[in-house]
Amino acid sequence: MRVFIVHAHHEPTSFNHAMTSEAVAVLTGAGHEVMVSDLYAMGFDPVSDRRNFVTVTDSEKLNQQSEEAYASAHQGYAPDLQAEMDKLAWCDILIFQFPIWWLGFPAILKGWVDRVFAVGRAYGGGRWFDSGVFAGKRAMCSMTVGGPAPVYTDSGVYGSIGSILHPIHRGIFGFTGFTVIEPFVVYDPKRLGDEERLACLARYSERLLVLDSAPTIENPNTADYEGFVLKSVQDKHRGLD
Ligand SMILES: Cc1cc2nc3c(=O)[nH]c(=O)nc-3n(C[C@H](O)[C@H](O)[C@H](O)COP(=O)(O)O)c2cc1C
Repeated sequence: MRVFIVHAHHEPTSFNHAMTSEAVAVLTGAGHEVMVSDLYAMGFDPVSDRRNFVTVTDSEKLNQQSEEAYASAHQGYAPDLQAEMDKLAWCDILIFQFPIWWLGFPAILKGWVDRVFAVGRAYGGGRWFDSGVFAGKRAMCSMTVGGPAPVYTDSGVYGSIGSILHPIHRGIFGFTGFTVIEPFVVYDPKRLGDEERLACLARYSERLLVLDSAPTIENPNTADYEGFVLKSVQDKHRGLD
């Protein structure tokens, strides 16, 4: 298995860092190939604009998706993006490793997605969900949260982890064809004692060793998506929208 970890934490002593180190050790120990993009260590630039491209199709107006389509057809991506796109194409399993920030994921990781998941490389041409570019690959969020588990339930103050991760699970992974593995969540790691910390990393190891068979989250299929689009067009024609 080829595993690509996109690591989004700035502190080497963090629990997130311990999780990525554990993943590299466990997966390579089991004979898998692993690549890590440590976004802060790389100084990854999360700003998405003309810096994404070495080609230009419209110099008057920046339409990111049009420029992406053109760059995809003409090898026109900036080297930092091309390197990340190559890792995405290479992997069988993608892991996002991050702390929850403002009930979302850190901006550096969002910027990585904004730039790397480009038209022609991650989606486009009617390829989405089960017929998406990355169909056959799996993806998982491995995350830490500052709060305790009860606040991350349907009746808790923040709502469920599933609802918070929906934009990633559905909008990023699912949309581009990944089969989405149930997330691995560590609650309030700063309060863990040494033994609890080790136990938690051991639980993560167990998950890492079954990434190819771990339970997954359902996503729509292409027919569902096209059915919705078709229906909305038909409703518009009938004046129902
Ligand atoms: C900018 C920022 C925003 C945060 N937002 C949240 C949040 O919305 N919910 C939460 O439970 N914790 C939040 N936290 C706490 C972190 O998620 C927590 O410290 C982290 O998951 C602990 O893992 P670490 O030791 O690897 O940093 C936030 C922390 C920062 C720095």
